[in-house]
Formats: sequence, structure tokens, C-alpha cells
Amino acid sequence: MGVPVRDALDSAVIAIAASGSTSPRLDAELLLASALGVDRAALIVDPRREVTGPAVRTFQDLVRRRSVGHEPVAYLLGSRGFRYIDLAVDPRVLVPRPETELLVDVALALPHGARVLDVGTGSGAIALALKAERPDLEVTASDVSAAALEVARANAARLELDVALVEADLLDGLGAAWDAILSNPPYVAERDRSTLPPDVVGHEPGGALFAGADGLDVLRRLIPAAALTAATLLALEVGAGQALDVAALVGAAGFTQTEVLRDLAGIERVVAGRR
Ligand SMILES: C[S@@+](CC[C@H](N)C(=O)[O-])C[C@H]1O[C@@H](n2cnc3c(N)ncnc32)[C@H](O)[C@@H]1O
Repeated sequence: MGVPVRDALDSAVIAIAASGSTSPRLDAELLLASALGVDRAALIVDPRREVTGPAVRTFQDLVRRRSVGHEPVAYLLGSRGFRYIDLAVDPRVLVPRPETELLVDVALALPHGARVLDVGTGSGAIALALKAERPDLEVTASDVSAAALEVARANAARLELDVALVEADLLDGLGAAWDAILSNPPYVAERDRSTLPPDVVGHEPGGALFAGADGLDVLRRLIPAAALTAATLLALEVGAGQALDVAALVGAAGFTQTEVLRDLAGIERVVAGRR
């Protein structure tokens, strides 16, 4: 005996909502689509479809991991869309966020053949999406985490994107020959740890999230180091409320034309400095 998709979804939505997810229906639909091996649209088109056989158990397990274990949906599915590409993700890397797509927008205006470095690439999101949209750019991606680089390397290979991947602490050993430096660094303040949702703080890598008491420790090292390179563009993702301070650091380092871009939620999200 099967369960109609609509009923399976309704009870999953209740369990996932009770666990604090802000998108319980979307989460449930994505998990059920994965359990059934179909895409989400197929569920919506045919809500009377039945969930039968092993898919029932698979879906129950996924819903339990989401609602009781607070595992991020992207880790449960093993992938996350970012701009025009799909990235494999797992707990070795941050789940790429939609607001980070702004950094790629900023870089799309770079001149032909520009040499671009994505510092703290994680899954490879920024570097790979940029290379996919601007194959003429010479893109390098770095991370201090060897485990994250394994994920980025596998993504680059699967997507057949020619991006160089290097292990480095910020710009150490990476030379000065860059035209643009992009980064979505860790920027969560330690004091905000307790305000993060359990799926973030309990599952995403701490080294991708936290940067000292006020969240600016990594940026305070990265900005002056970027100023010592040839880069004429430095574009950085920042946390809510950090843009003013980061724009001041970027300006003081010599990137005197600073611009702050807002994300779709209206939050000042990217500081771009040019010189
Ligand atoms: C917020 S995550 C961003 C990941 C990816 N760029 C994205 O937007 O989804 C920050 C990344 O910076 C890396 N990282 C942290 N400290 C670093 C350092 N000192 N040097 C290089 N990478 C660092 C982390 O390992 C993590 O992958």
C-alpha cells in the first residue's frame, strides 16, 4: 500500500516546520523528489502519485535527518544549484548561498583574459560559476582547507571547468599577479554563534563560518594582503552590518573607489573596491 504524495508531504511539512526550518514545504518537496528519483515539478504536477516500496523508508529517513538531526537539505541531497551550475556539496564545505551569486555578477565586468583569484573557494562555487560564464578568464581558487579543496576539485572535474586549485592560507605563496581578488570569507562573529540555526552551527564547517570576536579577523588579514598584489578589483562578501567597516578597511588599503551592493533581501552584502 502506498501513501499519496500529498499526504506524505503534509506530514513531513509538519515535522520539518516543528524543527524550526524556515522553508518546510520546499524542504519536504525536495526530499520527497529525491527519494522518488524525480524532479520537484513532477510532485506538483501529480499530487495523487503514490509513494510506495523503498521510497517510503528513504523519505522517512530523510525527513528524520532533516527534522531531528537538523541536517541541511543540500547535504542530504548532495548538491546545490548556484547560478547556472550544480555543485556537489557535503559537510566538508559551506553550502553555497544565493546571495554569494552577487560576487560573480561583480566579476562578470572584468576585461577579457583577466586573472582572477577566489580566496576560500569551499565547494568552488564562485570560481566555477565564473569560469562557466566567462571561459576567457584565468581563474584560480584557493582554500586553507585541504578537505574543501577535494570537493572543489571534484566539482571542477565533473563540470569540466579549467580552474586552478591551490591550498593556501589567504594569499600566502600565491604571488602578486592577479587582476581581481574575490572572496566570501568566514565572517560570523564568535559572539553570534548562539544565534545561528542548528543546521548551520551543527553541520557546516566552523572554519568556513567564524572569524573572531567581531567576525572581521580574516578580512583584516586579507584586505592588506590583497593591496600588495597587482589586483585593481577586490570584491568581498560581508555579513549584515559589516559593510561600512569593511568598506573603510578596503579604502584605507588603497582601493579608494568603493561600492557596496545589496542582496535580494536588501542587505549590504558585497563590498567592491577598485583602484
Ligand atoms: C564562507 S566559506 C565560502 C565558501 C565558498 N566560497 C562559497 O561562497 O560557498 C569560507 C571558506 O574560506 C575558507 N577559509 C577560511 N580561512 C581561510 C584562510 N585563512 N585562507 C584561505 N581560505 C580560508 C574556508 O575553508 C571556507 O571554505
